[in-house]
Amino acid sequence: MVEALPQEAAAIHTVGLTKAYGGVRAVSDLSMTVPRGEIFGFLGPNGAGKTTSVKLLTGLAKATSGTAWVLGKPAGDVANRARIGYLPELFRYQAWMSALEVLQLHCELAGIPKAGRKAETENALVTVGLADRANDRVATFSKGMQQRLGLGVALLGTPDLVFLDEPTSALDPVGRKEVRDVILELRGRGVTVFLNSHLLSEVQQVCDRVAVVDRGKVVASGTMADLLGLGEIRIRVTELDGDAMRAAAGFGSANKDGEWLTVAGVTPERVPDLVAELVRSGGRIHAVERGRKTLEEIFIKLVERP
Ligand SMILES: Nc1ncnc2c1ncn2[C@@H]1O[C@H](COP(=O)(O)OP(=O)(O)OP(=O)(O)O)[C@@H](O)[C@H]1O
Ligand SMILES: [Mg+2]
Repeated sequence: MVEALPQEAAAIHTVGLTKAYGGVRAVSDLSMTVPRGEIFGFLGPNGAGKTTSVKLLTGLAKATSGTAWVLGKPAGDVANRARIGYLPELFRYQAWMSALEVLQLHCELAGIPKAGRKAETENALVTVGLADRANDRVATFSKGMQQRLGLGVALLGTPDLVFLDEPTSALDPVGRKEVRDVILELRGRGVTVFLNSHLLSEVQQVCDRVAVVDRGKVVASGTMADLLGLGEIRIRVTELDGDAMRAAAGFGSANKDGEWLTVAGVTPERVPDLVAELVRSGGRIHAVERGRKTLEEIFIKLVERP
């Protein structure tokens, strides 16, 4: 079997994607691959280029250079738009319209056949928890309810790929949990979710894979497990000599800080062997624990200004 090229197989594949606004490089040489069916977290501080990247991928902005494929087609492909849902970062719906009317309007704009519109709008209202407010006007909605409505709009037409630009910025903790559940449900249906967010604990809870951007550039990317260093083991050990350190280095990247030895990149099955090796070399083990960094700690380290 011939393997599909990354641009065809992946939900998103970019090579050297760049967008300059005058002298500002909003996105700079962005190369990344988002596999289909995963929840992808796109993180970065304010002004890092997250929203601009989504605009390039949805075809709302034109790249200065580089290429982007979305669902196997060049970004901005018109036929592809029906397969993509998008919750923009800053949006405002017509205050005089009811939630249902907003959804109906977007069904029309998206070209969803008339016969399917009722089911689509009902589904969206239930999914985002606005079924009992369907006939209330947007003007009477709190910020959080408007954000849920935006999410409902993004889900119309059963898209294969959904871009959510800060979907929970206006939501309370209960609302955030509900959106997390919606995102997980989407993944359950095989939908790819591209999530822009600052809310790192949230990203940590739902994303399979992440990329961290800063000043338009990717500064780290990988699976959540890679990024969190789940393969990192901390061992409190005394009487450790050079031989034992060399032995530890055979298991991963080893660092000693006082009595604590940290070894990164150890798979769980190899931990007993690592401990046995240290004991064999004369080390006395007092504690063994899994490294537990939060995404927030890693993020701050990555984007820290000197
Ligand atoms: N239309 C535009 N014209 C000029 N500069 C722009 C435009 N859009 C974005 N920029 C600049 O590009 C950079 C990236 O902005 P962008 O909105 O993509 O960041 P972001 O990561 O989404 O930030 P935030 O977390 O605040 O939403 C910023 O320096 C911004 O000022
Ligand atoms: Mg933004």
